Amino acid sequence: MTAPRSTTKLAVVGAGAVGATLAFTALARGSARTVALLDVNRAKVEAEVLDLQHGGMFVPQAEVLGSDDVEVCRGADVVVVTAGAKQRPGQSRLDLAEATISLTREILPGLVEAAPDAVFLMVTNPVDVVTYAAQQISGLPPERVFGSGTVLDSSRLRAALAQHCGVATANVHAYIAGEHGDSEIALWSSARIAGVPLLDWEALPGRPPLDDDARRSIARDVVESAYRVIAGKGATNYAVGLAATRIVEAVLNDEHRVMPVSTRIEDFHGIRDVCLSLPTLVDARGATTVVDTPLSEQEVAGLRSSAASVRSVQQRFGL
Ligand code: 2OP
Repeated sequence: MTAPRSTTKLAVVGAGAVGATLAFTALARGSARTVALLDVNRAKVEAEVLDLQHGGMFVPQAEVLGSDDVEVCRGADVVVVTAGAKQRPGQSRLDLAEATISLTREILPGLVEAAPDAVFLMVTNPVDVVTYAAQQISGLPPERVFGSGTVLDSSRLRAALAQHCGVATANVHAYIAGEHGDSEIALWSSARIAGVPLLDWEALPGRPPLDDDARRSIARDVVESAYRVIAGKGATNYAVGLAATRIVEAVLNDEHRVMPVSTRIEDFHGIRDVCLSLPTLVDARGATTVVDTPLSEQEVAGLRSSAASVRSVQQRFGL
């Protein structure tokens, strides 16, 4: 492991609901010494920066910058891209591909020029397709360009399992893998609750069983969670902001943390040439190594079908 950096710069591209929340969360947690926000809407980015600066007394010491000029990102250690089309009620993440791929083509070269040594974290949806495109457009080593993937979905899964079983979320170890979207799957066979394989979990007194029906219903709720939030308030922002902040910290602090981020899969049970989430080591170099997680046959089949769904969108856009 490398020594933690003494000065760190996080650049957040897009000052919308997700970007602004990520900047806020990173400041509140003291994740970076400098947080820079970039957005085409100068009035909006300046207002967000002022609002964040006004809270300076209550958070760890940090500098907050903002601009509509990419120069504000110069020298960043991590660049998080949240800019892109907004998912409207009724739209799937994959419906946003055209707009976000063309935006990625427009903005990424300038960001790479300004922060040539940065690790790039893509958050904009459809994140798997956008990550694949960003790797091609940037020409950077693939481990330095990865997506937030199913880190958020895995948090949703863990929170739902914790609630169902009556234990703390930190006692649940379980991943959602595949597309960050409708075809994602829960990796039940490797999941554990307080060290007990999830498939052997005996319900605590007064708690419902974690049987097939319960697992199916929890997995369905996880897939539908974002739709419910978007229907009610127009966007998701808090949980995704926290998830992205945690990934940024894993890079800035060289944590070697295993997280289900979206990376280029080259040969995994016959899956290749697509970006998908699998438990992966995240450290100062980016998302470096996919962990060889044991999978049931059903999980392998689910991942293959998720990969096919993402690849068909990639192909539609000539990626
Ligand atoms: C989410 O899952 C919409 O991808 C966003 O919250």
